[in-house]
Amino acid sequence: MTDFYDGSFYGRRKGKPLTPRQSTLMETDMPRLQLDPSVPAPADLASLFEAPVREVWLEVGFGGGEHLLHRARENPDVGIIGIEPFSTSMGKALVEVVDGGLKNVRLYDDDAVQILDWLPEASLSLAYQLYPDPWHKKRHWKRRFISPKNLDRYARALRPGSQFRFASDIDTYVDWTLRHIRDHEAFEWTAETADDWRQPWAGWPGTRYEAKALREGRVPRYLTFLRR
Ligand SMILES: C[S@@+](CC[C@H](N)C(=O)[O-])C[C@H]1O[C@@H](n2cnc3c(N)ncnc32)[C@H](O)[C@@H]1O
Repeated sequence: MTDFYDGSFYGRRKGKPLTPRQSTLMETDMPRLQLDPSVPAPADLASLFEAPVREVWLEVGFGGGEHLLHRARENPDVGIIGIEPFSTSMGKALVEVVDGGLKNVRLYDDDAVQILDWLPEASLSLAYQLYPDPWHKKRHWKRRFISPKNLDRYARALRPGSQFRFASDIDTYVDWTLRHIRDHEAFEWTAETADDWRQPWAGWPGTRYEAKALREGRVPRYLTFLRR
């Protein structure tokens, strides 16, 4: 194993079995929505989407999909790639994408590093990573998604001048991320006042994980990084 997360998913892939409808959509609709990193990515990422889109965003580890679906509905002219390896969550999101007729979403049900490496250079205009798995114990910190290698991956895929938005309620993960960003030449933290990391981004719908963190008395932090 490397010293930092370099692509070998540690989380859970399977929870509750899919509902009959989710299973059906997995067969009828997932094949057209799922990205296929075994074939080269199109030079123009916009061509991945059924709707005409002006730019492409990414969300890594969308969980219940609240944020992904909200952004997709709010921005029909933006293509959004959502990645989530946990099948129960993917099943739910799939139903929402199909029933909502969302033509600006593509999905991927495995490790995000596979898509980050597949994307053309500078092809993303925004990336979100909201409440990544915290890996509380110090000996597990190297499993955290934020790592020098994965920041290289984000830096390659994001266009200069774009943002990487990260949220966490775990102090040690916030510190960890700020430290890795400080050491990475492609990124800078944009915060100027405390509100910049205390307040979420405009149009923020919250996420299921965030609601749980708030119920349990933890404080979310919202970090905005500029891709130089
Ligand atoms: C703590 S949950 C947060 C989910 C959601 N963002 C929210 O705020 O409710 C972290 C999510 O990241 C996903 N995840 C973990 N490692 C991942 C990886 N390598 N690639 C993509 N997603 C990953 C997990 O499956 C899980 O759903």
